[in-house]
Amino acid sequence: MRDSKRIALLEPSLPTAAELLPWLEQIDSARRYTNFGPLCRRLETELAASLATDCEVVAVSSGTLGIELALAAWRLPQGARVLLPALSFVATATALMRAGLVPVFADVDPDNWCLTPEIARAAAEQIDAVLPVAVFGRALNPALWDAFTADTGLSVLIDAAGAYGNQLPGRRTAAVFSMHATKALAAGEGGFVACPDPDLARAIRTGSNFGFDYENPRPGVVQHAGTNAKLSEYHAAVGLAALTAWPAQCAQRIDLAKTYATELRELGDKIILQDDGAPWSRSVFVLRAPSGIDATTVTALTELGVESRRWYWPPLHRHPAFADCERIGDLARTEMLAAQLIGLPFHLHLDDDDVARVCVALDSVLP
Ligand SMILES: Cc1ncc(COP(=O)(O)O)c(C=O)c1O
Repeated sequence: MRDSKRIALLEPSLPTAAELLPWLEQIDSARRYTNFGPLCRRLETELAASLATDCEVVAVSSGTLGIELALAAWRLPQGARVLLPALSFVATATALMRAGLVPVFADVDPDNWCLTPEIARAAAEQIDAVLPVAVFGRALNPALWDAFTADTGLSVLIDAAGAYGNQLPGRRTAAVFSMHATKALAAGEGGFVACPDPDLARAIRTGSNFGFDYENPRPGVVQHAGTNAKLSEYHAAVGLAALTAWPAQCAQRIDLAKTYATELRELGDKIILQDDGAPWSRSVFVLRAPSGIDATTVTALTELGVESRRWYWPPLHRHPAFADCERIGDLARTEMLAAQLIGLPFHLHLDDDDVARVCVALDSVLP
């Protein structure tokens, strides 16, 4: 049976034109449009304050470029080997390769679906650095990654693209966030790196500006080739307006996740929630169905008017672009999870009836 109302998977909640206007008027007055303008600097300051930890924030034009620049700022030798989870979005691996580094895929923890310090410790002799991912926004413990660096001497950067509101940087560990339209804190496109180390922040900022370092006494000279990853004042305006709406939207996202967790109890052991359904602010809502998810599950849900997506399918090591990359172990847990994960509609235009309908539909398509 087809249901009349189609429930969308993702519907961004970006600021309205009216909410943007005061910020856009500031751009008109200042006549600064990019190159670390006042709105970009204000966004960085407000984001750093919101993270409630001692760090410097560098805004960039996307999360992907934030990862690339942060990795490049370590100045590892070309071809250095960086461990990353095989369960992630392609940008984790592409950013790493474009920074001139070599991806080495690791397996993930079956409960939280993330690469853990324990997994990385077992591989420490074979790698030069680690890029763990806050998978689906699930925060990693930065203190544990700080301890990993202290013990092994290996640098760690957290890909926290979808984890604003949950993830904090560590004392030694920087974290990169995305402000893509589908993220909980969205600027359309954009991202930022939260750096505990001011020297790393400066290197990332310089890298985002072709390699020109404004604090350098010889500002017109480039020491290391950079790129253009500056956040424009227009995107900073959207980010600032989004930050104003953040406290209310974050609370709504946590409530929505709680409503899902409650409704999904009806499905018993047909499903397993990441982190046991702990209430944190999400950009996406992904769960595990041990009976397996494939294209027919997605089609069956579509027939019932519910959009869904297999996240992350295929896992990274199965993409042709990364098929030749090295793996540590057989990645059995990644394979198992990738064959069982499904993302359900998750956005602020859903009401309780929608969530109930999604859960009934999922129940009906799972064996
Ligand atoms: C895990 C992960 N890393 C990196 C990115 C890339 O972020 P952006 O789209 O801002 O480049 C994403 C985007 O969805 C992501 O989910």
